Amino acid sequence: MFFYQQLENDLYRIGVNDRRTARFENMFPMPDGVSYNSYLIKDEKKVLFDTVDASFINDFYSNLNHALGEDKLDYLVITHMEPDHSSAINMVLKDHPDCKLVGNKKTFQFLEQFFGDEFKDRYLEVKNGETLEIGKRTLEFIFAPMVHWPEVMFVLSSEGELFSADAFGTFGAIEGHYSSDLIDMDRAFIDEARRYYINIVGKQGRSVIAILKKLEGKEVKMILPLHGPIHRQKDKIEYFIEKYKTWGSFESEEDGVLIAYSSMYGNTEEAADMLAYELSENGVKNIHIYDVSEYDYSYIISDAHKFSNFVYTAINYNTDLYPRMDAFLRELVCTGFQNRKVSVITNMSWGGRAEKIAEEILESSKLEKIGETISLKSSLDEEKVGEIKELAKAIADSMK
Ligand code: FEO
Repeated sequence: MFFYQQLENDLYRIGVNDRRTARFENMFPMPDGVSYNSYLIKDEKKVLFDTVDASFINDFYSNLNHALGEDKLDYLVITHMEPDHSSAINMVLKDHPDCKLVGNKKTFQFLEQFFGDEFKDRYLEVKNGETLEIGKRTLEFIFAPMVHWPEVMFVLSSEGELFSADAFGTFGAIEGHYSSDLIDMDRAFIDEARRYYINIVGKQGRSVIAILKKLEGKEVKMILPLHGPIHRQKDKIEYFIEKYKTWGSFESEEDGVLIAYSSMYGNTEEAADMLAYELSENGVKNIHIYDVSEYDYSYIISDAHKFSNFVYTAINYNTDLYPRMDAFLRELVCTGFQNRKVSVITNMSWGGRAEKIAEEILESSKLEKIGETISLKSSLDEEKVGEIKELAKAIADSMK
C-alpha cells in the first residue's frame, strides 16, 4: 500500500484505517472503525511522529517508505506509548540506523516495559519545554501528563503544527475527509469525538484543563491528533478547544435529560417512557432514553456527560441492584462523572437495597438531587403516575 495524504509541502499523514478491530482497548465498540495516525515531516531532518497498531504494521510501513522515497529518518518522536501507536517503533529503528528516538524519561520506561531496550543507545531524552531544530522548523516539547497516560507529550512546531497525541482525536475511520473543515462537525463528528474523549480521557479532566492553559498564547495553526481528522481551520480549532474546556471541566454541553433504565418485564421501562413524555409536555427538548441492557455503556456515558440532568432506575435483583445497572453506574463514575442534577426511579417488588447501592456507587460524583425518588412496587399505578408528573415538572424547572 502507499496510501497517504500530503497535508502541506513537507508534511504527510501516513497512518491507516482500522475497520477490523471490534473494540477499542478491547472495551469500546467502533462501528465506524478508527484511524491510527502517524505523521511525517520532511524538513532538513526527516521526522516521524508515532507509528500504528500491531495489526497494521505492513500497511503503515509501506506508506512510510513511499512517502520517504530515498530519504532515511533522523528522528522518531513518541508522543504516546500506548501500543495502538507504538507497535512499529522497533521495526522502524531497525530500518533506519541513524534514527534517534525522541521521548521523555517515562516514554523510555514504558518503551522498555513493552518492547525491551534493544535501542537504548538511540534515545534522545527531552524535558518539558525543550526544543529541537529540524531545519526551517523548531519543535517544542510540551508535556501533557495523564492526557491520558503519564508519558504523553505534545509537540508544537514553529510553524504552528501541534502534534497532540490522543487529545482532539475521535472514533471513526477517515472516510476521505482527512481534515475537519471537510466535514460537518456538528453532524458527522462530534458525537463520536465526545464518546472517545469521555470514555478514554474523560476522568483526566484536570490534566486536560492544565494542558489547555499551557497552550494559551501559543500559535496553533493545525492540530494533528493520533485518531481521526486533523484540524487546520481557525474556527474548527476554536470549536474543538471550547468542547475540550467544557468536557475537561465536567460541565454539561446543553440542557437535556439522559434517562438510563433497566427493566426485566417492561414495568420500569413504562415509567421511564412516561417520564420522558411528561418532560416533553413540560418543554424539555433534549431527552434520550437508554436501556442499559441493550446499549454499550460508552454511548450512555457519553450522553450522561453531555446533558444537564441524569435519571436512572434502581431496580432490585436478588435484593441487590440489577447487575447491569450496577456495572453501568460504576463505569460512569470511572469517567469522572459529576456536577449533574440527578433523579431516581426505583422498583422493589419485595424490598431490597437497590437504591442504597446505587447511591453508594454515585457518592463521589456529588450530584444534586432533583425531586423525590419514585418508588414503584412492581408496576405503575395512579398514585405513581401523579408522582412522575411532579418529577417531570421539577426536572424541567431545574433547567430554568
Ligand atoms: Fe490512541 Fe491512548 O492511544
